[in-house]
Amino acid sequence: MHKKVYLKVFGCQMNAYDSEIVEAMLGKAGYMPAGTPDEADIILFNTCSVRAHAEERAFGNVMALRPLKEKHPEKIIGIIGCMAQNYGEALLEKAPFVDLICGPDRMWDIPAFVEEIRGGRGPVIACELDGRAGKSVTGQKKRLKAYVAIMRGCDNFCTYCVVPYVRGRERSREVTDIVNEVAQLLDNGVKEITLLGQNVNSYGKNLADGITIARLLERLDSLPYKKRIRFLTSHPKDISPDLISAMRDLESVCEHLHLPIQSGSDRILETMGRGYAVGHFLDIARSFKENIPAGSLTTDVIVGFPGESEEDFQATVNVMKKIQFDDSFIFKYSPREKTKAAALTDDVPKKVKEERNQILLSLQKEITAANNQCLIGTTLEVLVETPAKKSRGEVMGRSRAHKKVVFAANGNCIGEYIPVEITGQGDFTLTGRAHRAF
Ligand code: SAH
Ligand code: SF4
Ligand code: F3S
Repeated sequence: MHKKVYLKVFGCQMNAYDSEIVEAMLGKAGYMPAGTPDEADIILFNTCSVRAHAEERAFGNVMALRPLKEKHPEKIIGIIGCMAQNYGEALLEKAPFVDLICGPDRMWDIPAFVEEIRGGRGPVIACELDGRAGKSVTGQKKRLKAYVAIMRGCDNFCTYCVVPYVRGRERSREVTDIVNEVAQLLDNGVKEITLLGQNVNSYGKNLADGITIARLLERLDSLPYKKRIRFLTSHPKDISPDLISAMRDLESVCEHLHLPIQSGSDRILETMGRGYAVGHFLDIARSFKENIPAGSLTTDVIVGFPGESEEDFQATVNVMKKIQFDDSFIFKYSPREKTKAAALTDDVPKKVKEERNQILLSLQKEITAANNQCLIGTTLEVLVETPAKKSRGEVMGRSRAHKKVVFAANGNCIGEYIPVEITGQGDFTLTGRAHRAF
């Protein structure tokens, strides 16, 4: 009988990618994926510390395992990722039944840690940030879309954000490593690659040969096969005209830019330490739309940052109306230990944060619907991903601009690029009709 591992992921795409690496390494050590903690020999939670809510959810999942561990002490339970890095050994005070606490830079040693724990030398606590760019380990999983980290860490220290503390300093992976990984994924049938980094615009800063994200995209674009390339996340302070040109000119680079604005008030952006003013963001948005009219622009916004007045909030509302983002992720400010902003009074009441959150959510809904309405009657190239969730006989895919499209077809077209005429829209999804039958 095979041994099994259950791995649950919280947080961002980087955590999802890291979890694939951990699964692949444990796969090589003989562990198959398990569907539930009950059937697993190793249970891992890859955790996120970005907001209190993310931590509470992950920790709730860990604590729920106490009875299982009491019944089956031989099961190995681990907290890995950003919460492990953030709190280290202190997690054992609340959850003494945990066997492994492992930060993001030490995850490559997890198979060895498992052996140590099996040999009775637990619990293992490994939370050093070692500054390595990290290597990839690919498993056998068949898939259509894949993530590839091109850099790790962040040096920006936005005053609200814990990421630089839990992910360490910025470092880029060597171009050849990335090109080889992407080439291998494409050979294995992957159609869409999303390049990951906390701030992909500073890719290459620590590398010798003057490489930038735009040059990296050129290298990847020239690889064989029809493919899509996306990248996340960009930072407004160092986005370059070169990158916008690369998005416009390179066939495989998709026309979608995720560019977090965080606030529409210069005063708040200043206290957030973001390093740009609203005017600069508007310039980038304008240049993006001029160069790439069919492109989509999405963002992140934090409401209720310390000192955010009604006037500051209205400035955010106005900027959102002006830019007309295709989508946005709205977050309620959550004070994080260690960060600079933690020293400021969290003075926007919970109720006001909630109200501002709701106002932006409904504003975004209107804007998305208006933008999507303009697409009706156009034909978009859709990469088909899965059968549609709700209705039979339909499939779901994404346009190059990352819009969700549902249309009638059987599952045989999964993985194909299909021209679809857009006929309707609702709830952040477009509906359409394929030009030929499937
Ligand atoms: N590196 C990316 C994203 C990092 S975290 C970037 O710089 O944009 C993803 C999002 O979480 C951020 O864009 C921000 O909007 C939000 N976020 C980060 N820290 C937060 C906090 N303390 N409270 C609320 N939202 C936060
Ligand atoms: Fe956090 Fe700012 Fe770095 Fe993004 S750029 S990860 S928000 S510190
Ligand atoms: Fe990602 Fe959360 Fe860590 S957003 S980098 S998993 S703190």
